[in-house]
Amino acid sequence: ISCKITSTEESKSQRTLLDNASNLLTDVLSGGRLGSMPTAEGAISDLFSRPLFFALYDWFLEHGSVYKLAFGPKAFVVVSDAIVAKHILRENAFSYDKGVLADILEPIMGKGLIPADLETWKQRRKVVAPGFHALFLEAMVRTFTDCSDRTMSKFEKLFENDNSDIEIELDLEAEFSSLALDIIGLGVFNYDFGSFTKESPVIKAVYGTLFEAEHRSTFYIPYWKLPFARWIVPRQKKFHSDLAVINNCLDELIKNAKETRQETDVEKLQQRDYANLKDASLLRFFVDMRGADVNDRQLRDDLMTMLIAGHETTAAVLTWAVFLLSQNPSKLKKAQEEVDSVLGRGGKITVDNLKKLEYIKLIVVESLRLYPQPPLLIRRSLKPDKLPGGYKGDKNGYSIPTGTDIFISVYNLHRSPYYWDRPNEFEPERFLIPYKNDSVEGWAGFDPSRSLGAMYPNEIISDFAFLPFGGGPRKCVGDQFALMESIVALSMLLQKFDVELRGSADAVEIVTGATIHTKNGLWCKIKRRI
Ligand code: HEM
Repeated sequence: ISCKITSTEESKSQRTLLDNASNLLTDVLSGGRLGSMPTAEGAISDLFSRPLFFALYDWFLEHGSVYKLAFGPKAFVVVSDAIVAKHILRENAFSYDKGVLADILEPIMGKGLIPADLETWKQRRKVVAPGFHALFLEAMVRTFTDCSDRTMSKFEKLFENDNSDIEIELDLEAEFSSLALDIIGLGVFNYDFGSFTKESPVIKAVYGTLFEAEHRSTFYIPYWKLPFARWIVPRQKKFHSDLAVINNCLDELIKNAKETRQETDVEKLQQRDYANLKDASLLRFFVDMRGADVNDRQLRDDLMTMLIAGHETTAAVLTWAVFLLSQNPSKLKKAQEEVDSVLGRGGKITVDNLKKLEYIKLIVVESLRLYPQPPLLIRRSLKPDKLPGGYKGDKNGYSIPTGTDIFISVYNLHRSPYYWDRPNEFEPERFLIPYKNDSVEGWAGFDPSRSLGAMYPNEIISDFAFLPFGGGPRKCVGDQFALMESIVALSMLLQKFDVELRGSADAVEIVTGATIHTKNGLWCKIKRRI
């Protein structure tokens, strides 16, 4: 059907017929309301020539906050409204599952939290979320600083090797990707990826798997489900062998954690004596606190999920933060002034002074506003539902039949002209100003005097207009971890170096899969600060 759409006049009329039939069918199934939803009629070429979320933004401005995107008989509902997003993510969260996303991720993450069905999710969230308690996060600050230190020393060495005291050129996106991998490996299962070269089979397998996950999320046909694909198609064969390498590595780590479980460590954990624990990772916590009988397969799925969920996302937020700062020299300077005043030029980050890096924190969240990771949240209705109305484009809301696929466009919410002044501008200070408008009540502004804790501009104070880590019961479990990690890495970079883009900002091409990233890397000129 997709192929026929654009070719001939005759096909155009076939398309209209098909669309009408599809509307009628959905209309009947949904009790009449989905059929009346505005439909985006974009050219299919739009979907392949640029990242999907760009096209969804243009259609949002044209068709309103809830519209239907039809591919022949298949329709997706695109949501760009805070009230509707809150309804789906929080108020009626258990009427939805992860739909298309689960189809893509289940072969990789199994029954890990992200793709998990509701029953599994309810059991596992109770086990995984407590792992991210305050003392674990505090213990992780050391891991964040050690790993960032290693990256900064590597940059310093490049100056020596080059024998040029002037500037070096680096793809910072690739550097942040390695840094985030080092951190997530140590934090989640105490595995030091950074001690191996890029040629290590495990590292190659991790990148291979991420690449495949990325490819699957941009592809509209589940080619990996074709019979025998894993034995015939070379990319699928490679994917399965990569997965086997990671799974073996994780199985080995789980076995080791169980065999080395010691009552003294359990006591230290119970007494919250993190300072004296040799291994503060989440794996250690799960095995020690839950006993040796914890299900290995489920544990492996959980670890794999966190490895993937916590790696590219954090690398991406650091990449776009540097990109945005390089376009805004006055904000870069302000950020460096804050780092200098809190840390001094040679000072180290600690749990206490981390809380004082307020402007850096706002830079990180503003980067997540402009480049949300992931740009779309995906859901499928498990039962009929009624979406609330009252927003731009509709007063009454729409009935949603069972099985409706929904994209909540976080990108659209974060750049919505209905919620933000100058939505496309990089303005970290915007979060300090309280505001309210017709559609979103209760935006409280952000009080930087409050401690790090849960305190960053978030979905609660914005009433779901700002979803840097999602919202509702399936909100990110690693939000504090990621935020602290990003603040540490960005501060340590700015403490030591000045950063400039190598070419123009327009030359940085954007591509997307699960996260928004660059096509050819973020090539920057790095100078040592004098
Ligand atoms: C879920 C964003 C870092 C683990 C999510 C969701 C978002 C998100 C938006 C919700 C997805 C949905 O509702 O469909 C981010 C961003 C990060 C980040 C922007 C970095 C800047 C991390 C880290 C970890 C992690 C570091 C773990 C160490 C998870 C898990 C879920 C999740 C396990 C699933 C939660 C559930 O369904 O109960 N993340 N994340 N994330 N994230 Fe993160």
